[in-house]
Amino acid sequence: MNLILLGAPGAGKGTQAEILKEKLGIPTISTGNILREAVKNETPLGLEAKGYMDSGKLVPDALVISIIEERLKKDDCKNGFILDGFPRTIPQAEALEEGGVHIDKALEIAVRDEVIVSRLSGRRVCHGCGAPYHMISCPPPADNVCPKCGGEIIIRKDDLPETIKHRLDVYHEQTEPLKGFYGEKGKLAAVNGENGIEETTRLALEALGV
Ligand code: AP5
Repeated sequence: MNLILLGAPGAGKGTQAEILKEKLGIPTISTGNILREAVKNETPLGLEAKGYMDSGKLVPDALVISIIEERLKKDDCKNGFILDGFPRTIPQAEALEEGGVHIDKALEIAVRDEVIVSRLSGRRVCHGCGAPYHMISCPPPADNVCPKCGGEIIIRKDDLPETIKHRLDVYHEQTEPLKGFYGEKGKLAAVNGENGIEETTRLALEALGV
């Protein structure tokens, strides 16, 4: 299955992508995680992306499109993949189509803005592997050491209150139109993402028919 996860920042795309990749046996490709890794390693890509990311803006389409084009060529994508955080604009979705990438489903995880704000202010992430935690729904260990990889668990720079608000504005303006793009092609499914992590997974698997 070639799957896209759509949804606002903090809707739970990364959380569900980690769970679904185990259940479906296909890799997750997160442009956010790839870009954060590049920033951490101070690569040319990371140096270019950092300012956009820290202020909650989208990184230019050309940069992320080339990341995805390269990543989808790898062998582990032959039996399917989960795209988390891509496409994020109509030109990114069109680039997938122009590149001949078939998409089976775009699954929207729907969460209201007020819930997003509280989620992102409680979020913590592993600096090593990117695994998401939350101070209430998925608390990190007291020592802030990630049980998955031993990395340090931190607060993301773009989870500051004013940046969260800007990211939501960017989402509504530039990413939400993708619902229409995939809806018109009969590929859009939506699940309520406000009822806890396990229930969201159950709804997602039901919507995907697996
Ligand atoms: P990216 O990393 O993709 O950030 P995002 O879309 O803003 O998504 P988040 O990672 O914030 O949220 P999520 O939906 O994955 O939620 P999560 O599972 O963590 O992108 C970061 C930046 O990179 C962008 O701003 C941009 O600059 C750049 N970028 C990336 N891709 C790009 C692209 N294609 N084009 C251009 N620029 C791009 O969950 C959030 C919290 O809630 C966690 O604490 C989690 O534990 C908790 N939680 C999750 N689900 C539930 C639930 N059901 N109930 C209760 N709590 C839950």
